[in-house]
Amino acid sequence: ADPDPLQDICIADLDAKISVNGFPCKPETEVTSDDFFFDLSEEGNLSNAFGRAVTEGNVHEFPGVNTQGISTNRVDLAVGGINPPHLHPRSSESSIVIRGTVLVGIITTDNVFYSKVVTAGMLFLIPRGLVHFQLNVGKENVLFFPSFNSQLPGTQFVHSSLFNTTPPIPNEVLTKTFLVGDEVINAIKAAITSAH
Ligand code: GLV
Ligand code: MN
Repeated sequence: ADPDPLQDICIADLDAKISVNGFPCKPETEVTSDDFFFDLSEEGNLSNAFGRAVTEGNVHEFPGVNTQGISTNRVDLAVGGINPPHLHPRSSESSIVIRGTVLVGIITTDNVFYSKVVTAGMLFLIPRGLVHFQLNVGKENVLFFPSFNSQLPGTQFVHSSLFNTTPPIPNEVLTKTFLVGDEVINAIKAAITSAH
């Protein structure tokens, strides 16, 4: 989904003082072999309310993907863990499952819900911009590696976007949207804020 590159190599200079669509390239005289490799071998920290760890390999962590229109994450889920409903505004997602049993759900703009339980060796495809989630429904930790056709897919979590913004969205918006009282909204806000 990203624009095409205009040169062979453009390792991101993350500290550059100018801003462009993406990042400026560091000088080619400073490029090393390490710029083309990134380590996703470590399991992330699963001790959180969701039992999930997303280790991102976007341009911020892996400057080598700058201008290449591609990036890869690592996702670990504890038993029962969830990667909550979210979307990527700038990217489709193609993911390979390495370990475990995971319920993948996709929700279209027409609110059609597609889902499947997938296991090691299977790919799942999330169309660009659609809400999706992954839930570990097996008896061991889940591991999968999502790849994106963007160096910076962006990740927007539905629950955070409504209940954990800075500053908070006025309660009136949320009570009128969800057709419930302040106490319900306050309870959700408190739970989500303390989980992050
Ligand atoms: C998983 O869906 C991810 O976006 O990392
Ligand atoms: Mn995703």
